[in-house]
Amino acid sequence: MNRPHVLVTRAIFPETIERLREHFEVDDNPTDAVLGAGLAPRLQGKQGALTTGSERIDAALLAACPGLRVVANMAVGYNNFDIAACTARGVLATNTPDVLTETTADFGFALMMAGARRMAEGERFLRRGEWKKWSYDMLTGSDVHGATLGILGMGRIGQAIARRGALGFGMKVVYHNRSRLPAAAEAALGARYLTKGELLAQADHLVLVLPYSAESHHAIGAGELAQMKPTATLTNIARGGIVDDAALAVALRDGRIAAAGLDVFEGEPAVHPDLLTLPNVVLTPHIASATVATRRAMAELAADNLIEALTGGVPPSPINPQVLPLRPA
Ligand code: DGY
Repeated sequence: MNRPHVLVTRAIFPETIERLREHFEVDDNPTDAVLGAGLAPRLQGKQGALTTGSERIDAALLAACPGLRVVANMAVGYNNFDIAACTARGVLATNTPDVLTETTADFGFALMMAGARRMAEGERFLRRGEWKKWSYDMLTGSDVHGATLGILGMGRIGQAIARRGALGFGMKVVYHNRSRLPAAAEAALGARYLTKGELLAQADHLVLVLPYSAESHHAIGAGELAQMKPTATLTNIARGGIVDDAALAVALRDGRIAAAGLDVFEGEPAVHPDLLTLPNVVLTPHIASATVATRRAMAELAADNLIEALTGGVPPSPINPQVLPLRPA
């Protein structure tokens, strides 16, 4: 019997590769080179791919790889997929929701606290040997407990951050989302729905957790930053491109807002050079979901999706389930 052929586009846990080998002929990438233009040639003759956010799956790629049936992203975000193009070609796309929610929320909260309490700035100050004495105003930041936590994008991760803020830190939680949560969910989280403008004006600490799309491109630019409190912090764990990084650098430099924490960047792994020169921004390399347990769970869920999709089963987290009935028997 002919086994399906799959490509694992980047290095992942060897155990997950072994599991895939039980079902498929697997072409893996142990050197972890980003394939770029080499992706389409490597996908020839393959029915499935386990991808990461580094691979763009669009109409041109799909046209060049007509045998492809499933793309299983090892990420909850899937802005690297053109879902309409996948659906038009009957290609199933899957992602890895839920398994990373709490880990990512932990990191978002930590990044928000690091900005508010100037932790990275303090660490750099100490390492430079500049800590000579105690001073009443040395590296004073703003409180997190009791402050107003603003959340833009109230999906699973946004709600997990809201719980941390409300239950753990006594924060007032306000949010804006494309669709308002049901009243019971708002009550359980103690979260109040605001317009985006009200959210910008009221948040002491604004955390971005919305998906990236043409609609959310530069959702936070100079105009939005101007509406925030000068004492506010901004944390982005969602996607680069949601924040206009150039405008943010100007706002941080001019004290338009107090601090920022960024885990994602427009054009990453490149980082806007002005951000690198500023003391009041904490910069991390897209690691919000990076714990061993969570990355394992993400890899396994992506593998589950690929296995189920190519062996006639029910993939656990399809993005475009409408293509499932179109699979060849
Ligand atoms: C996600 O899951 O979307 C993360 O950003 C990838 O690490």
